[in-house]
Amino acid sequence: MEHIVSAAELRAATARWRREGLRIGLVPTMGNLHAGHYSLVRAARERCDRVVASVFVNPTQFGPNEDFARYPRTLDADAAGLEGEGCDLLFAPPVESMYPFGLAAATRVEVGGVTEMLEGAFRPGHFAGVATVVLRLLNLVQPDAALFGRKDYQQLLTIRRLVTDLCLPVEIGEVATMREADGLAMSSRNQYLNVDERPRAANMYATLCRMRDAVLCGDAIDAVEREARAALEQTGFRVDYAAIRRADDLGEAANGQTTGLIGLVAARLGMTRLIDNLAIDG
Ligand code: PAJ
Repeated sequence: MEHIVSAAELRAATARWRREGLRIGLVPTMGNLHAGHYSLVRAARERCDRVVASVFVNPTQFGPNEDFARYPRTLDADAAGLEGEGCDLLFAPPVESMYPFGLAAATRVEVGGVTEMLEGAFRPGHFAGVATVVLRLLNLVQPDAALFGRKDYQQLLTIRRLVTDLCLPVEIGEVATMREADGLAMSSRNQYLNVDERPRAANMYATLCRMRDAVLCGDAIDAVEREARAALEQTGFRVDYAAIRRADDLGEAANGQTTGLIGLVAARLGMTRLIDNLAIDG
């Protein structure tokens, strides 16, 4: 596996592969890789001849009081893991090379619509940071396909909108959420949980399963959302949202609808903010 930090070298490597007619897959990450990330690498390998993974803790997608400074950075372990998964190229640039004019003066990409609610409402500017860095990575690598996890469902929809609206010549692939044995969605942020919080965190997935079952039984959406919030609060979560939405555009769901929906939850346990979601398709 090549390990590259400069944009120019990255461009040269991917240009060479394109000239050889090879299909290139991109897996963007912020590192501290776990089995969820590696499932994206495997999906990229299945679709493409060469796989590029990026590891970049992107400052512009973190709010001022969020965890940018303490986000776990484990580049050596990530490089070893990627090598083991058969990744061909690791791109781990410094911040200055991704934002050559500095953070404040950088060009920003705002995706409309699907970015406004849920995570967008609780993390202002987050999706602009994500869209900006992903567009930059797509332009640098010019992959045939880029892979994203359903774990960050609103992010996945945002990237799909970005690609459609800006006519980007890339296929977006999605990968199912990898979970721990107790249902907790794998996340780099799970390691912030202490021994008391960790078992309680699994209640987020259990709550999503109950939300799905209640909607499929025909329960009213607002009652399902209220009960989910109460159940999470009972476990000690401070809830940002527990919502049932249309899966295609995150618009309000209608009572009685049992297909094309998704349950989405964001909540804090102690210092840790977790998000998860579950499709509802009767
Ligand atoms: P990060 O949180 O590192 O996630 C990188 C990719 O892995 C995302 O597409 C995410 O949805 C996926 N992923 C995370 N946990 C997963 C799990 N348990 N199962 C399956 N896939 C999972 O998301 C980001 O980084 C950043 O916002 C990024 C897109 C890299 C832009 O900076």
